[in-house]
Amino acid sequence: MKISLAMMLAAVLLSAGCSRPAAQKQSASPEIRQGLELAEKSQCLSCHALDHKVIGPAWNDVSARYNQYIRSGKTSEQEVERMLENKIAMGGKGNWIWVTGGMSMPPNAPRVSAENIRKLTHFILSLRKG
Ligand code: HEC
Repeated sequence: MKISLAMMLAAVLLSAGCSRPAAQKQSASPEIRQGLELAEKSQCLSCHALDHKVIGPAWNDVSARYNQYIRSGKTSEQEVERMLENKIAMGGKGNWIWVTGGMSMPPNAPRVSAENIRKLTHFILSLRKG
C-alpha cells in the first residue's frame, strides 16, 4: 500500500515536471520564448529550466553567476561565452556540484550545431544581464 502510494505520487510529480516548459513559454517575452524553443528542440529542457534545478542548474542562476564575474572584472564576456560554448558542446561537471550532487552534463555536440550552441549560450547569459 505504502509503495503504490509513493509510486502514484512519483507519477504525478513526473507529469507535472513534463508540462513545465510549455507553461514557461506562455508567460515569456518573445526573446525568451524563442530561446526556450531552441532549447526544447535541442533537448536541453529534459535537464534544465529557467528558474529551478532539474538535473542541471537553473539557467537564471547560471546567468546570474557568470554576469557577476563579468561585472566584477574577474573575466570577460568573451571568455565566459567561450567557456560555456565548450562546456555545452563537450559536457562536463564540477561547476555546480552543490546543486547537482556531482552529475555531469553529457556532450551535446555534434547533435546540436555550433551555431545553435552559440545562440543558446547567448540566450542563457542574457537572462540575468542587467
Ligand atoms: C542529461 C542532462 C543534461 C542535458 C541534456 C543538458 N544539460 Fe546542461 N548541465 C547538466 C548538468 C548536470 C550541469 C552541471 C555541470 C557542472 O556541474 O559543471 C549542466 C550545466 C550547464 C550549464 C552551466 C555550465 C557551467 O560550467 O557553469 C549550461 C550553460 C548548460 N548546462 C546548458 C545546457 C544546454 C544549452 C543544453 C542543451 C543543448 C544542456 N545544457 C543540456 C545537465 C544537462
